[in-house]
Amino acid sequence: MARKVIIDCDPGIDDAVALCMALFDSRLDVVALTATSGNVSANQASRNIQAVTERLDPPRWPRFGVVQDSDSLSSATALHIHGDDGLGNIRLETSELHRQHPSDKVIVDTVHNAPGDVSIIALGPLTNIAAALKREPELAHFVDRLIIGGGSIHGIGNITPTAEFNMYCDAESARVVFQSSLAKTLVPLEVTEDLMFDISLLNDLPPEASRVGAFLRETVPFLFRSYRQNFGVEGIHLHDAVTLVAALHPEFFETKDMPGDVETRGELTKGMTVFDRRSRPENRSNMEVAVSLNKTAVLDAIMQCLRFAGQESTNA
Ligand code: BDR
Ligand code: CA
Repeated sequence: MARKVIIDCDPGIDDAVALCMALFDSRLDVVALTATSGNVSANQASRNIQAVTERLDPPRWPRFGVVQDSDSLSSATALHIHGDDGLGNIRLETSELHRQHPSDKVIVDTVHNAPGDVSIIALGPLTNIAAALKREPELAHFVDRLIIGGGSIHGIGNITPTAEFNMYCDAESARVVFQSSLAKTLVPLEVTEDLMFDISLLNDLPPEASRVGAFLRETVPFLFRSYRQNFGVEGIHLHDAVTLVAALHPEFFETKDMPGDVETRGELTKGMTVFDRRSRPENRSNMEVAVSLNKTAVLDAIMQCLRFAGQESTNA
């Protein structure tokens, strides 16, 4: 039976790649797609989840959860990496937004509909997960597992010297989620950055004739340009695609249980994830943390998912 998942994301080109993989994968039943601000504003993220789904037209459509700019807690965006629309400036059209339920409510309702059976894959700042925990304090009992993309084990960040982007955007919410009793797996920056995709990825994307291929061929080249311009490298990371593989194939990752927390106030360290790795930590482990990955296996899994999504989205 397909595993029921909610994907909470801030698309974002790497989020969009993860969506292409997930929405056509028969091992997953994406029961809800919830937007959060992060790479883009709350309104833009809400438009993007729907516009991407409309463009891809997967066999089963998820429920949507949206967020409003006025409720956004995010401290940053990443438009310089992902484009003003978050998707490489392709300006996707979207019809009127579907029934507009708040992301945190959709998360709670979806989990209640199948208690114990739903996992959440969080590919953006953890605002909605913290809000869902506030809305339903017993949520942790009903969620199978939360898989989080973000944080860093060794304290080297990407948005600041010490903080990873998703944690920095809403450090308070990240802290609430870290301290909650949800069963959690964290896929940190050290692991997602271990896989760098070179320009040959563009040739290996599904063919233009498929909906997934046409969309990715329009979107992904922007990420190569922004990595070149911003970081001076000829390659890209697909953090959120790697995190999705951690949900599909945990066996491709080596993990360690650790007590983790998030710094919310430090002048230089806001959003830094802190793990107690002393031989006698004061707190009990509160999450499983991926510490390394099998590069070849994860890369193959991503390319296989995309190939399959291409085949399934070809208009015959
Ligand atoms: C994370 O930040 C975002 O820009 C990406 O979408 C990913 O979720 C990596 O730090
Ligand atoms: Ca993301």
